[in-house]
Amino acid sequence: MPSRPDSGLKVVGTGVYLPARVLTNADLEKLVDTSDEWIMTRTGIKERRIASEQETSTFMGVAAAKQALANAKLKATDLDLILTATVTPDSMFPSSACRISAELGATGCPAFDLQAACSGFLYGLIVADQFLKTGAAKNILLVGTERLSSVVDWRDRNTCVLFGDGAGAVVVRREPDSRGLLATDWGADGASSELLHLNNPMARGKAIAPPAPASPDCIVMAGKEIFKQAVTAMADSARRSMDKAGVRLEDITCVISHQANIRIIDALVEKLKFPRERCFANVHRYGNMSAACIPVALHEAASERKLQQSDKILLVAFGGGLTWASAILEW
Ligand code: UT7
Repeated sequence: MPSRPDSGLKVVGTGVYLPARVLTNADLEKLVDTSDEWIMTRTGIKERRIASEQETSTFMGVAAAKQALANAKLKATDLDLILTATVTPDSMFPSSACRISAELGATGCPAFDLQAACSGFLYGLIVADQFLKTGAAKNILLVGTERLSSVVDWRDRNTCVLFGDGAGAVVVRREPDSRGLLATDWGADGASSELLHLNNPMARGKAIAPPAPASPDCIVMAGKEIFKQAVTAMADSARRSMDKAGVRLEDITCVISHQANIRIIDALVEKLKFPRERCFANVHRYGNMSAACIPVALHEAASERKLQQSDKILLVAFGGGLTWASAILEW
């Protein structure tokens, strides 16, 4: 019987922020050569949210964080670590975590960003767990916030129909009566990063070097290959986490996976032989919000009372890097 790490991590508050502006598939039909029928059958996405100029990653992250703190009945000054997962920070520095910290009034609290694309929130949860286990932090705010509409090529029908904007946040702390993260698994394959990437135009082609050859500063993706790798990597990672935790499929009450495409979610549960009805999905409403997908899904599943105390939840994600991660979380 594999040993179960007694982390005690508990999600004590969740929050979300979703921009009010809805971009439907019909709206996209006016932008690129696509159709509601193609998008629905190939991705399951019906609509996505698009941020206004004011709704930056920081703005959305702050709103989600405030809700998570209120639900946790904690003040920003109770926090002793702020982590933000994002690929669309307002600035390279200060980090989004520092910007969010300033807006919350958490002066002095250590704050930093971590970046693992769509796996970013789960990477953040694994990092947070280490700080809780060592006692280095007691109350941690973890935010996933993305403004992907800024980095999507709106002329490219292969990618622009897939992504959306939004933020989710959780407050985690160590609780003596909680078994928390029963097991986790994470990994990366930088050698395959070309399959899905977003260049940083600020970091190249300056002053003394001749300008870099033209290269798109929008999301670039080899969709078919990423689809296959996402299903395999998430299924393998999920199995490793379940093995480490010593839990069987029938012990898992809910699967919350990264929300990129309903066909990826269907293929994943089929590969795991997990009942589809116990798998949470909201991709039809928001599209792929990268690091914000899992915290938004967690918040919605909890609000809809789909998560009960002591439930064992499988969280699993895959994204650019390439990166993947999974966790078995006892709610
Ligand atoms: O978060 C992790 C990152 N992202 C993902 O996990 C996404 C992974 N990939 C996918 O979800 C899917 O591969 C896509 C949704 C991106 C594409 O679906 P697909 O079934 O793999 O389609 P495809 O790329 O093979 O394209 C099929 C056809 C092509 O036309 P031809 O070459 O067969 O004539 C595309 O040009 O569909 C065409 N197409 C479209 N048609 C209408 C591609 N995008 C569109 C579109 N509307 N938006």
